[in-house]
Amino acid sequence: MIKRSTIDEIMSVAKVDEVINDYVNLKRRGANLIGLCPFHNEKTPSFTVSPAKNLYKCFGCGKGGGAVNFLMEHENFTYPEALRYLAQKYNIRIEEEVRSDEALEEQKHNESLLIISEMAAEYFQEQLHFSAEGRSIGLSYFKHRGLNEQTMKTFGLGYGYRDPNQFKNYALGKGYNEDLLKEVGLLSSKGLDFFRERVIFPFHNLSGKVIGFGGRIIKDNVKAPKYLNSPESPIYNKRKTLYGLYQARTSIRKSDQCILVEGYTDVLALHQSDITNVVASSGTSLTEQQARLIKRFTSNVLVIFDGDLAGEKAAIRGLNIFLEQGINVSLVLLPAGQDPDSQVNELGKSAFTEFIESHKADFILYQAHKIDTEYKMDPVNKSVHIKELSKSLSLIRDQIKRSVYVKECAGILDIDERTLFREINKNIRKDVSKKKSRETSYVPVREKFVDFDPGEDHSQGIQQIVDPTEYQERDIVRVLITSGNKWYDEDKKLNIATYILNNLEGITDYFKDELTKIILQEYSKILNDQIEVQSSYWTEHSNEQVRTFAVDVLSEKYTYAEWSKKGLELQTQKPVEENHVKDSYQAILRFKLKKIVERIEELKRIFSDNTDESKDVILITAYQKLLKERQQLAEELKVTVM
Ligand code: GTP
Ligand code: MN
Repeated sequence: MIKRSTIDEIMSVAKVDEVINDYVNLKRRGANLIGLCPFHNEKTPSFTVSPAKNLYKCFGCGKGGGAVNFLMEHENFTYPEALRYLAQKYNIRIEEEVRSDEALEEQKHNESLLIISEMAAEYFQEQLHFSAEGRSIGLSYFKHRGLNEQTMKTFGLGYGYRDPNQFKNYALGKGYNEDLLKEVGLLSSKGLDFFRERVIFPFHNLSGKVIGFGGRIIKDNVKAPKYLNSPESPIYNKRKTLYGLYQARTSIRKSDQCILVEGYTDVLALHQSDITNVVASSGTSLTEQQARLIKRFTSNVLVIFDGDLAGEKAAIRGLNIFLEQGINVSLVLLPAGQDPDSQVNELGKSAFTEFIESHKADFILYQAHKIDTEYKMDPVNKSVHIKELSKSLSLIRDQIKRSVYVKECAGILDIDERTLFREINKNIRKDVSKKKSRETSYVPVREKFVDFDPGEDHSQGIQQIVDPTEYQERDIVRVLITSGNKWYDEDKKLNIATYILNNLEGITDYFKDELTKIILQEYSKILNDQIEVQSSYWTEHSNEQVRTFAVDVLSEKYTYAEWSKKGLELQTQKPVEENHVKDSYQAILRFKLKKIVERIEELKRIFSDNTDESKDVILITAYQKLLKERQQLAEELKVTVM
């Protein structure tokens, strides 16, 4: 693990604007730099980089963070990978330290699983090419399907024996651990070979490591499933995996397009025909994680559906997942009975490409045309399907793009554009309120910090609404993050963070908001360990909620205007930086006041439910005491607010 001191050094040297400049064309706008957001499609820049604060924030899609986080999002780096990249860029020598026991254990365990998978992949490959059974059954099968040696090698294809002890004996003989072999599913729970008499397709992660396998049966007549896949394990999560992405990633980036097919063999056949930007969803419905994975490499997806139209409706609806990620989708339906594998083998590469080019349709327009042709004489069903179409349209975030689509669709369907817009807006409103109730993430009352085009759809940024009853809690951690290491009282060497946490001692149980609790806990650990943290500690935080919150409070000037409407006559209009002593003091008072008000309400309830008169007196005394405390706090607050 990289030493904390090295991380601190990297954080203090890395300039977010210099890092991002390597990827995004940035233009100066006042104190900030702006550019087109690399994380979503936009025509007017809402991606803002603040060199002074060393952070970036997109006001279109809401993404934000520091240099490390940018690299993780944009380059798909892990945290250590991003650090190493920066260390290289800034010529910093990396010092490593041993990990905590637990983390070390887990890492070791996962590494063992990867080693075992690699060993198995090599074994299966060897059997395919060099054993008698492998050659006569497996290799001849692949050859029969038209695959050449190069393709088999690129994808690491292999063969698993008929004898259920073959691989097991080999692996155990080499000293591999039986439990681990079972954990990655190479041995069944009974301890026998899992992949028997099957050709084998290894799955790779983005670093090219083998994480699991698919095995195809050879005989077509048996009852067993055609494909068997490795079970999920600490190294294999099927929702986050796309078959062939490792082999396709460079080509996807270069061609700025990803072709999605259904089967493993389709990937192989296209790859062999020089169409290398292909991945497979592996027959299951596409997940959001998979869409996001693709989005890291391109914003354009072409889906080729097999010619069995059975699953069509659901499959097509599933493509909405791409729109949600800001990915442009087109699709091609192959003729009945064909899949990309059979089609490319039948037509040859250039005729296949021609076929795709001439038959591909934009996902949205495809839906519109389909409704038009199928329901011309059926207005009832036509309107049902137009609603479906409007759902897809409402997922397009780029407003210009969306209105171009609306125009076209309205034309195709021969309906009024306004009707479509009304339907779309209904969906958006529904969606936003659904998200509001689901998420309690934070959005501060903000002043605009860049001029952005009002034509752009910024609804993404405001979908996250904090539970308005807990803003006092969030406010305390806001002060911690923005000014925790500043002096509360320099003579006494008391910093804001210590002041706040001391004042909260004994009442931290009253906090309700999860994010607040996480930050408070972490901060008290920071104080215990006596380490000093910069704001980058938070803007580069691995927890996305923490990071987003930190970026928001650090990048926005803060007003309490909204809050005061809720009954707190408080105004701290000066920038936080100049105000942090007062700010921290008030934040605590406001929280305490809130808690007292809550307890007063609770006591009132208890009092009215109470049937035991002898207890009345105790309750009334307690009640009066609370009222007095409330009075005092309110006065204290008023004084400081002046
Ligand atoms: P071939 O029949 O060898 O051409 O395979 P294919 O890759 O074209 O497969 P098909 O179109 O039949 O199915 C598409 C994908 O669905 C496959 O690549 C598998 O990932 C998955 N699949 C198909 N059958 C099964 C099965 O029985 N079990 C599981 N788990 N997955 C399957
Ligand atoms: Mn096939």
